[in-house]
Parts: sequence; C-alpha cells; structure tokens
Amino acid sequence: MNSVVRTISVDRTVSADDFRGAMRHLTGGVSVITAGRGRDVSGMTVTSVSSLAVDPPSLIVSINRSASSWPLIQRHGAFGVNMLTADQSDIAERFAGKGGLKGVQRFAGAEWTTRASGVPLLVGALAALDCEVEEVIERHSHAIVIGRVLDVVTSQRSAALAYWHGEYVAIDREEDAARLAEVSLPSRHVHARGLR
Ligand SMILES: Cc1cc2nc3c(=O)[nH]c(=O)nc-3n(C[C@H](O)[C@H](O)[C@H](O)COP(=O)(O)O)c2cc1C
Repeated sequence: MNSVVRTISVDRTVSADDFRGAMRHLTGGVSVITAGRGRDVSGMTVTSVSSLAVDPPSLIVSINRSASSWPLIQRHGAFGVNMLTADQSDIAERFAGKGGLKGVQRFAGAEWTTRASGVPLLVGALAALDCEVEEVIERHSHAIVIGRVLDVVTSQRSAALAYWHGEYVAIDREEDAARLAEVSLPSRHVHARGLR
C-alpha cells in the first residue's frame, strides 16, 4: 500500500475561525453514522461522507476520535451510513448530541433494522449503507475511515437534508424541478430551501 506523509511547513498559519468561515460555504449532505450492537450503540451526525470508489463499492468518512461512536467502530470494525431525508432534521439534531442524549437514547423515536454487519440502519433513510472498516488513517483530531459497502438499503424518498452556512436545508427533487426548468440550469444544479 502506498502512503506518503509530508511534514508541512508554513510561514503563516490560517486561523481556525478563517478556516471555519470558508468551510461554511461547502454544502454537505447530512448522514448519521451508526455503530455498535444491541443496546451498546451510538451514532453521530456527519457531513464528511464521500464516495471513494465504485469497484469495490467503498466510501470515506472523517470521524472525530473523541466521539462516542469511535471506540464502537474500532471494536466492531463496522459502521452504518444513513443518508437523511429533508424531514429528518430532528434525527440529525439527536445524533449531534442535542439535549444531551447519549448512546442508545439517540435511536428512540425512529425505526431501525440490521444487515450483515449488525449495526443499526435507519428505516426510511434516503439510503442506508452497511459498511465494514477497510482501513483507518488517524490524522490530527480525526480518523479517516475507509468503509467497504456490504449492503445497501434504499427508499423511494427524494428530498435530501443538507447543511449549509450553519443551517439544515432541504433539496427536493420534486419541488425544485419546476424552478430548475424556469432558469434552465443544467440538471445537476439544485435549489436549496431553508428549513428554518
Ligand atoms: C451538520 C453536522 C455535521 C457534522 N459532521 C461531522 C463530521 O463529519 N465528523 C465528525 O467527527 N463530527 C461531525 N459532527 C459533530 C458530531 O455530530 C458530534 O460531535 C457528535 O454527535 C457528538 O458525539 P458524542 O456526543 O457521541 O461524542 C457534525 C455535526 C453536525 C451538526
């Protein structure tokens, strides 16, 4: 396996505030990462999921190593990726730790299923992916986790939840299609609707 680690030397460091300010412009699809088995479970809201390769089906997610899900991912070598629909912002907030909810408490009020790996998968997510950990790269505060996709559960839902400028926004294929036609943008361009 090829790996190149460079020591970066910079004269001028970018402040955390400047970096955060820049990253607020990056629109991210919202997913919940799930880990563990039975009642020994936890999960976390993320925007860092990204596709790695189609062959073999694999993806990447960046996980803060202080998150409660991290030891569970390490112990079981598996995790779930649950892509949220526009009306699941309450689930996003629970899994971001709102209200001090911990572990299994975050799973209340939603329906969950399992596939081969045994991690909880959200019934009614846009798509839920059952993943096995293929490789972990620990860097700075985070772990870059490469997951091999073992199974995929999809739904017919079409409106996605995204995060942009510190707010949850909806991207709806049905509702936004008319506006897209009006402005004649290429089909990949979407219109985002604020949820608040
Ligand atoms: C919209 C949004 C996106 C997030 N994306 C990430 C992410 O990609 N990686 C990460 O480590 N934490 C991310 N977080 C923070 C985690 O959701 C949060 O720290 C975690 O749920 C707290 O975990 P714990 O209480 O289980 O330790 C994000 C939070 C929000 C609200």
